[in-house]
Amino acid sequence: MASGARKPVIAVYPGSFDPVTNGHLDLIERGAMIFDQLIVAVARNLEKDPLFPVKERVEMLQAVTYEWENVQVDVFDGLLMNYARDQNARVVLRGIRAVSDYEYELQMAMMNRKIVPEIETIFMLPGEAYSFLSSRLVKELARLGGPIKGLVPPLVEERLRAKVG
Ligand code: PNS
Repeated sequence: MASGARKPVIAVYPGSFDPVTNGHLDLIERGAMIFDQLIVAVARNLEKDPLFPVKERVEMLQAVTYEWENVQVDVFDGLLMNYARDQNARVVLRGIRAVSDYEYELQMAMMNRKIVPEIETIFMLPGEAYSFLSSRLVKELARLGGPIKGLVPPLVEERLRAKVG
């Protein structure tokens, strides 16, 4: 049997978070219950043009995650796996909502495993109430004046309305 204290398990939860939704929050809560430390890592350079600059994406995440002591918000540039290794992470956490997410996530997880084999990608399922929710759809709804209440935290709803309303 292995001896000595177990090392704390650090997980990185990467994403665009443009903006954070209640689906992301659901996953953060689940991750925070399982891992010793959860770093929510906001990708600075996105191929897609973000609606919110990275500073605002981070501010919103910090505001809505402050109650979890083992959750931190950070920004990363470049390769996710280089960042995760620098943070001494053992895990990359990703959410899978539906079968449609699986193919992309599988490709990314396999590629990431090739880059740093020691870091495991772990998938978690958000609550079923969020299985249809995405930042992209929330932004589209907000632009078109649709209902976004209950899909994002109130602070994000305010900022979205101010941005596109
Ligand atoms: O929220 P998203 O847009 O699904 O997040 C995708 C993200 C940011 C996690 C992914 O694009 C990523 O890891 N980007 C960093 C660059 C990188 O490491 N690319 C190689 C992926 S195999």
